[in-house]
Parts: sequence; C-alpha cells; structure tokens
Amino acid sequence: MKQFNKTILDIIGNTPIIKLQKVAKHVSSDIYVKLEYLNPGGSIKDRLGYYLCQKAWERGELKEGGIIVEATSGNTGVGIAMFAAVHNCHCIFVMADKQSQEKINALKAFGAKVVICPTNVDPEDPRSYYSVAKKLYQSLPNAFYANQYNNPDNFENHYQTTGPEIFQQTGGDFDIFMAGVGTGGTISGVSAFLKTKMPQLKTVGIDIEGSIIAHYHRTGEIIPAQPYVLEGLGEDFLPENIHFDVIDDFEIVKDEESFQMTRQLLKQEGIYCGGSCGAAVLGAIRHAEKLSEAKRILVILPDSGSRYISKIFNDQWMKSHQYHIEESHPQLTQDIANLVSEGVKIV
Ligand SMILES: Cc1ncc(COP(=O)(O)O)c(C=O)c1O
Repeated sequence: MKQFNKTILDIIGNTPIIKLQKVAKHVSSDIYVKLEYLNPGGSIKDRLGYYLCQKAWERGELKEGGIIVEATSGNTGVGIAMFAAVHNCHCIFVMADKQSQEKINALKAFGAKVVICPTNVDPEDPRSYYSVAKKLYQSLPNAFYANQYNNPDNFENHYQTTGPEIFQQTGGDFDIFMAGVGTGGTISGVSAFLKTKMPQLKTVGIDIEGSIIAHYHRTGEIIPAQPYVLEGLGEDFLPENIHFDVIDDFEIVKDEESFQMTRQLLKQEGIYCGGSCGAAVLGAIRHAEKLSEAKRILVILPDSGSRYISKIFNDQWMKSHQYHIEESHPQLTQDIANLVSEGVKIV
C-alpha cells in the first residue's frame, strides 16, 4: 500500500486553516480559523493527550498496562484514550457534572472509567474534580497523572508542535493570534513559539464571563469565579500553564452570545464546531471591531460540534436556558406546512 499511517496517533495535527466568509463580513480585518476539530479524536486535545503520555512513556513514568488518570472536560480524555488504546493502558477520567453527555459517553466507549464530580465547589474541596483526580492518582499503583493544568509538557506540546505547524502553514503572514484559554497551554505555547519568529505578533486570549483569568491579566487580582455554562474555556483558579508574559490582551465573551455564534458558524459557514469555537470567533470579531486598521487574525477552533448536539445545537436545551432561537427560513416552514396532510409532522 502506498499511503498509510501506522496508528491513529500518527495523523494527529496538520489541521487546515480557512478564511471566514460571512460571519465577520462587517469588519475590515480578515479572520482565519484553524480547524482543530479535524483531529482524529475531534479536538485540539488529541495533540495534548498524545504528547503528555508520550513524554511520560519516554521517561518511564507510564508503561504498558499502566493507569492514566486525568481531570478533563472531555476532550483531553479522548486524546489520552487514543494513546491508551494503542499502548494497552487503562484510563480513569474525572469530570465536572456540567460536561455534556456526549463527552462522557465517548470516554466510556473507549473503555475508560469516568468519575463525575460536582462543578460548583472550590478547587481545594475534596469533591472537586481536581482533588478527586489527585487522590486517585496517589492511591493507585502504576498510575500516571497527566495533569494538563500544571504539567509543563502541555506548554511544551504547543511550543514544539502546534506553534511550528502554524508558522510553517502561514509563513508568519498574519498579525494577531487568538485562542481561548482553559489550561492556557495552547495560547501560551503557540504564542511563545510564534513570538520567536514574529516579533510584531500580537496575541490575544479569549475568556468567558465568570472565569477569573482575564480579570487577573488586567488587574493582578484574583476574584471569586461565577458559574458559566460554556465548556472548555475559563477557570476558577490559575493553572501553571498560563504564561501571562506572552499574552498581550484578552477578550471576554458571554455564554449566550458564544452559543449563538457557534450556531451561526454552522448555518452560515458550514463549520461544525463546539461552543468554545463560537466564543473564540466572537472574541476575534470584537477585537477586530476595535482596531484602527485592517489586520489578519488567526483563531484556533478547538473542538467539534458533535460533542454538543444535545446542548448548543438542540433548540429545547437553548430554550430551557432562555436563549433566543432564530427560526431559519420561516416562510419555507409555512410552505411545507401548507403542503403536508394532517398527522404529518414538521420537526
Ligand atoms: C473545547 C475547548 N476549547 C478550548 C480549550 C482551551 O485550551 P487550553 O486548555 O489549551 O487553554 C479547551 C481546554 O480544555 C477545550 O476543551
């Protein structure tokens, strides 16, 4: 056979970049998006799952038959589970109870054990998903704790791989790099690398209202976090993988407007991505609206819409949160209704 890869892990990365055509039409800047949801496990975290486990494997901290423990909002778990499948390891994922059922089901489908913890407790609380993950790792023999929040290999992954890939794909031909911030690994690692090649580059993080990260960047002050619905972005503590020295600015977005943009990206651009992608694009548009001249902005889109089909793309879920629903093509709905017989339903 001429073209094949040895394992699924070999096709992680090299994701395409496309230019937005419609949702940002009113700004003079061009917005380009890197489609990380086209990774084999459906998110940018495939890169991280692979890198954290591979480095531990090389150091002898993880071996065949070993147990990988991780606190994850779901996507990192999928990346780790792919590594575990290929290398015959076991996985325990500890998640907060706000994560979508699709993510939980996906991890269980890999054969992982999934432990669900309450979302709205302090990180130090013994019930928090950070505390539970740590306890499981400390108590189980042969366990490796991937620890995406504080393991420096997270930053290194994006510094060594995602950053160079972006530079190679673009030739450095853009002005602003933007990414949502959760663990901080993506924005920090990519920005630190790109700044070595592109000294004029501006880097902007996207945070969600309720998280403490952007506020800390602006003021140096740690405030109590407030609940928010969006998955993947924001934190209620400061992970060590956020390197504030390479992040120039932040945009803060809110839940509903992020979900509306996520739905628009699908309806207008055909881009089937998750809620943090809508948040990132919205942050980029907001940033572009404030610029005095046109710039080229590159934005990371971390994961797939398929992870949120029961939430953001479900009208009932949107309505249950009092979020606005824009009915598409109401005249067409009416025309169909006029043509079908009684007892036939339009769903
Ligand atoms: C869906 C999604 N988007 C964005 C991010 C943020 O990326 P990072 O953790 O590298 O800051 C995450 C992180 O968990 C995520 O799951």
